[in-house]
Amino acid sequence: MALLSVNDLTMRFGGLVANDRIGFDVEEGAIFAVIGPNGAGKTTLFNAISGALTPTSGEVRFDGQIITGRPQHAVAGAGLVRTYQLVQLFADLSVRDNVAVGFHRVSRGGVFAALFRPGWARAQEAHVAEKTRDLLEFVGLSGVADMPAGKLPYGQQRLLEVARALAAEPRLLLLDEPAAGLNTQETAALADVIERINGRGVTVLLVEHDMSLVMKVARRIVVIDFGRKIAEGSPAEIKVHPDVLAAYLGGTEAVADDGAEPAHA
Ligand SMILES: Nc1ncnc2c1ncn2[C@@H]1O[C@H](COP(=O)(O)OP(=O)(O)OP(=O)(O)O)[C@@H](O)[C@H]1O
Ligand SMILES: [Mg+2]
Repeated sequence: MALLSVNDLTMRFGGLVANDRIGFDVEEGAIFAVIGPNGAGKTTLFNAISGALTPTSGEVRFDGQIITGRPQHAVAGAGLVRTYQLVQLFADLSVRDNVAVGFHRVSRGGVFAALFRPGWARAQEAHVAEKTRDLLEFVGLSGVADMPAGKLPYGQQRLLEVARALAAEPRLLLLDEPAAGLNTQETAALADVIERINGRGVTVLLVEHDMSLVMKVARRIVVIDFGRKIAEGSPAEIKVHPDVLAAYLGGTEAVADDGAEPAHA
């Protein structure tokens, strides 16, 4: 059974069909990528999967359960956690506290615990502090733990978002263009982090324009164009798929793996 199963998913915005009967399965343990030109409907698809949007029709199953239309916090609680295309950190909070925020999805607490600090809340704080240290170490941000997140270089902000998402202990991690704005070196570091996340047993679903990253880490790729799935296969198959070449480059060249932006941007 697939960990994530998307069936006939359609999302309309008025007259615009942003996702048109999209279907695919992500097996547990996979690194799976969704690619497609700007405006193809990739973020919309993530929104519909993660509960940020309720699809017009179709079904999303996570670990066999129908999650279509369930709110994002409930979906995250079930183990499906996403990051955003645009950085969404608390700029004035420290790097450490930005990660700690991620634990609140999975821990008891809230206002009551913060005000009265019962014994279990203090024990939990110690646990959160330790896990936060581990995660910062894991993404290579231990050295900047006390800095305000907004002062970090952009590449490190993206890694921080990944660390925060990991704090919620996902089984499936959705990353929306994690390499956007990163240089070659930062992208290589991110690829390494993605592979190590996967090595910890987390299934990864990635939207990404950077083909060097996609071709390096993804084992399977779905391509969408104008809201429709036009291809699915291994990186080797996708690189030479005629419909993919047509969507990206008018069919004249192989899909570049130099990180170039695709056509009809
Ligand atoms: N909330 C919304 N209301 C109306 N239209 C929307 C909404 N969200 C997305 N769209 C439209 O749906 C289409 C798909 O947008 P989406 O953001 O999913 O594309 P994308 O593949 O993520 O693009 P990019 O690569 O630029 O991030 C676009 O035409 C966009 O303008
Ligand atoms: Mg997008």
